[in-house]
Amino acid sequence: MRTVRTVQGLRAVLEPARHDGLAIGLVPTMGALHEGHLSLIRHARRQCDRVVVSLFVNPSQFNERADLERYPRSEHRDAELAEQAGADILFAPTVEEVYPSGFATAVEVLGVTERLEGAARGSEHFRGVATVVTKLLCMALPDVAYFGQKDAQQVVVIRRLVADLNLPVQIEALPTVREPDGLAMSSRNALLDPHERSRALALPAALEAAVGLTAAGESSAQAILTAAREAMRPFAVEAEYLALVDPETLEPLEVLSGAGLLALAARIGAVRLIDNVLLQAVSPTHPAPQSQGKAISTCSV
Ligand code: PAJ
Repeated sequence: MRTVRTVQGLRAVLEPARHDGLAIGLVPTMGALHEGHLSLIRHARRQCDRVVVSLFVNPSQFNERADLERYPRSEHRDAELAEQAGADILFAPTVEEVYPSGFATAVEVLGVTERLEGAARGSEHFRGVATVVTKLLCMALPDVAYFGQKDAQQVVVIRRLVADLNLPVQIEALPTVREPDGLAMSSRNALLDPHERSRALALPAALEAAVGLTAAGESSAQAILTAAREAMRPFAVEAEYLALVDPETLEPLEVLSGAGLLALAARIGAVRLIDNVLLQAVSPTHPAPQSQGKAISTCSV
């Protein structure tokens, strides 16, 4: 695996593959790689001839300075893990390479950025994500780019910008990878102390309660949200937001009649975590099969 730090260097190493018409895959990350990231890289490896992993902690998407400053950084370890998972190229640019002096352009996606994370973190968060992802796509010019459903709203925003800007790239969204106890893998989990780590199980508990109630035939959003909120109570964790929305428009749902996205964010001490699950309404004539084991690890999220 080669590490490159400049756009020129990236274009140069990809040029022969592009010339030969080989498929190029891009996995954008902010590093501190875990199994969630590695599942995206392995998937890209299976589908593409050349796999680029980008590692860039993008300052413009952090709405809190402290969050940016304590964001875990471990390039050496990340390089080893990315290589083992099948990456050919690690693109790890500096902040100056991505945002050179005089940089003055932003990509702003309206509508789908306004709720959930957009409402909680402010408009600069998704402006930062949309701008850097557009830039990474223009820098690497991949055929396919891979993202995690863990950041469900981010996927909706990226699909929107790719369609609106006619970017010639296919977007693949892959399921959330979880710890054995259900906690969604996240670079921020490393910042939890042992007590906070056990309280963080409030998030998967909320999702499991919602999945269970939906599988039992409940379709009222209010009932589903109440059950999810109740499931968090024993952990002494309150959701910053907890919402049942349309998976494509992210508009709130009152009744679950098809697919619905249950999304939540919560602060555990100083660490802010997000999670989500895709719910499917049960048709009265075709009840859902009894799920085995943990509800959220058996359904696609
Ligand atoms: P980061 O948080 O590093 O995540 C990189 C990619 O890994 C994202 O697509 C994210 O959804 C995915 N991911 C994270 N945790 C996952 C999990 N448990 N299971 C599956 N996939 C998971 O998301 C970002 O970086 C940034 O916003 C970025 C897109 C790189 C732009 O800066």
